Amino acid sequence: MCGIIGYVGPKPVVPLLIEGLKRMEYRGYDSAGVAVYDGTVLHTRRAAGKIAKLEAVLAANPVHGAIGIGHTRWATHGPPTERNAHPHRSADGTISVVHNGIIENVNTLRAALQELGYVFNSDTDTEVLAHLIQELFDGSLEEAVLSALTKVEGTYGLAVLSSRDAGKIVAARKGSPLLIGVGHGENFLASDPSAVLAHTRQVVYLDDGDVAVIEHDAYRVIDAHAATISRKVDRIHWDLAEIERGGYDHFMLKEIFEQPVSVENTMRGRLILDDGTAKLGGINLSHDELLRIDNVIITACGTSWHSALIGEMMIEELCRIPVEVEYASEFRYKNPIVSDRTLCIVISQSGETADTLAAMREAKRRGARTLGLVNVVGSTIAREDDGGVYLHAGPEIGVASTKAFTSQVVALALLTLKLARKHNLSVVRGRELAQAMHDLPAQIQTVLETATVIEAIAEEFKHATNFLYLGRGYSFPTALEGALKLKEISYIHAEGYPAAEMKHGPIALIDDQMPVVFIAPHDAVFDKVVSNIQECRARHGRTIVITTRDEPALKGLIDYEIRIPETVDMLSPVLAAVPLQLLAYYIAVKRGANVDQPRNLAKSVTVE
Ligand code: AGP
Repeated sequence: MCGIIGYVGPKPVVPLLIEGLKRMEYRGYDSAGVAVYDGTVLHTRRAAGKIAKLEAVLAANPVHGAIGIGHTRWATHGPPTERNAHPHRSADGTISVVHNGIIENVNTLRAALQELGYVFNSDTDTEVLAHLIQELFDGSLEEAVLSALTKVEGTYGLAVLSSRDAGKIVAARKGSPLLIGVGHGENFLASDPSAVLAHTRQVVYLDDGDVAVIEHDAYRVIDAHAATISRKVDRIHWDLAEIERGGYDHFMLKEIFEQPVSVENTMRGRLILDDGTAKLGGINLSHDELLRIDNVIITACGTSWHSALIGEMMIEELCRIPVEVEYASEFRYKNPIVSDRTLCIVISQSGETADTLAAMREAKRRGARTLGLVNVVGSTIAREDDGGVYLHAGPEIGVASTKAFTSQVVALALLTLKLARKHNLSVVRGRELAQAMHDLPAQIQTVLETATVIEAIAEEFKHATNFLYLGRGYSFPTALEGALKLKEISYIHAEGYPAAEMKHGPIALIDDQMPVVFIAPHDAVFDKVVSNIQECRARHGRTIVITTRDEPALKGLIDYEIRIPETVDMLSPVLAAVPLQLLAYYIAVKRGANVDQPRNLAKSVTVE
C-alpha cells in the first residue's frame, strides 16, 4: 500500500526522501515520485516502476532543496504510469500533493473544477486535491487544505507543499495512517515508523480528522476548525536491524526463521505455567466482564482470517462459548447480531487494514467490546480498540505474512487459556496447555532444521500449475494458510480444503500431475485423514504429507514426508505452518518471483 514521506530541515532533502521511500517499499507499490521546493519553485520528479527508476530520473535531472515530499503509489485510480504517479501539481504549479486513500466524490469535484477551467493531466483522484487547494488558496496553506477537505468525501493520508506559503508541509489524516517524526531542527512526515527510524525515535501518530502543520523547528496538530490539539509523543522501541534483511536473501525467509523468537516474545511475561493460565494486561476486561461474554465474533482478512478460524475452534472447544468468524469486508456491510455481551476480536498484523478497521468500528457502534490482536504498535486498530493483545512479533516486512500468523495463533491460545480457566478448564489441563505452549519455540526450531528437505520438495514441484492443500479440524485453516502462502508469492493456483470435502468435487482434479499437501499431525482426526490420503493415492495424486510420527497406516501412501514435532491439537497449526511457509518460499524463489513484494499485492491494504 502507498507510502508517504516528507522532510523539513537543514539537510539536502532528496536523499532523505529516497531513503524513506525505500524503507517503505515492502508496503507494495508500482510507481514513485518526489516534489522539492528549491527556494523559488516546486520541482517534481516521478517514474513508473520501482524506486530505482525514480533515482535514474533524478540523476538525469537533479533537483536540490531542504523541504520536500515523496510517495510510492499502489494504483487504485488509473494504471501505474508516470503521469499517474504522485506528487500531483496544481494548475499554476504552486501546490504539490501526495495522497493515500480514495476520494469517493472525485467525479463531482473534477466536474466542478473543469467548469472553472481546470485541465486534468492524470486519471487519479489525487490531482483533484491539488487543483482544489489552489482554487481555495488565500495565503495560508493549512487554511486552504482545511477548506478543501470540507468538500472531500472518502479516505486520505495526504501531504501538501506550496511555493506560495513555503517552509512548511501540511498533512491530513482520515483513514490512512500518518505520523510526524520529531527531530532536532528538523521534522519528518511518514506513513510508518520504518521511514524515519534512522533519524528519530520520537513520533506523533495522527488520528483521523487531524491536520498537521510541520516546519523545521516546530509542528502543530489542528482540528477541522484550525484549533490546536495536543497529541502525545510516542517512542519507537524497535531497531533498524529488525527491519534490515540481516544476511537473509529475503525478508520473508528471515521472518520464517525468526519464529522461535517471535513466538517466544508473544508469550513473554504472559504464560503462567504453575496456574495453567495466561496474564494479558491490555485486554481491559474485568473478571466479571469476561464472564458476561456469551458470544464471540472474530473478524479479519487474509492470513489473519485463517488464524481467526483457529481461534474459533480453540474458544468453542475450551470455553464453550459460541464463536462466529467473519471476513471483515463482509461483516462491515451485514446486519450482524451483536450485543453488549459480544466480544469482537479483531486480528490484524498491520493494524491498518481498512476493512478490518471498519468492521471493528461497526462492532463498537453496535455495543460489542472490541479486542485487537495487532502486531504494529500504535497502529489505528490498536489505538481505537477497547483493549488489545500486542503480538510482539517484531516488524513483519515481507508482504506474505509468516511470523505474524504463528504469533496470532499463540496469542489466541493465550486468550483462550485465560478465558477457559475462568470457566471450566481444570488447573491440570491448563498446565498441560501452558507447558505445550512453552515448548513451541524449541519445536519450531526443530522444524526449521528440515528446511533442506523442504527445499528439495520445492525443486520437484516448482513447475506445478495447481496445488491442493487438505486438512481436518485445526489443520483445515492451516491448509487454507498454506494455499494462500503459495499462490500469493509463486502465482501458482492453490486451494485449501477440508480433507473430507475433497470427495465432493476437488477429487476430480487429482491426477498424477497434481501435488496434494496433507496436513496430518497425529491428532483426533488423524485416522480420517489417512482415508483421504488413500483416496488421493488411488487417483495417482502426488502426496506431500506433513505428519508427526512413523505411522504404519501411512506406509506406501506418502511420496514426500515432512516431519514435525507433536503438540496439543490446538497448537499444531503453529508447527505445521512453518514447512508450508518454507515450501511456498522455496518454490517462489525457484520460479524467480519477487518474494518480498509479490505483484499486485500490498503489505497493508488500507483501501476498501
Ligand atoms: C497474508 O500473507 C497477506 N499478505 C494478506 O492476506 C494479509 O494477511 C491481509 O491483508 C490482512 O492483513 P493484516 O493482518 O495486516 O490486517
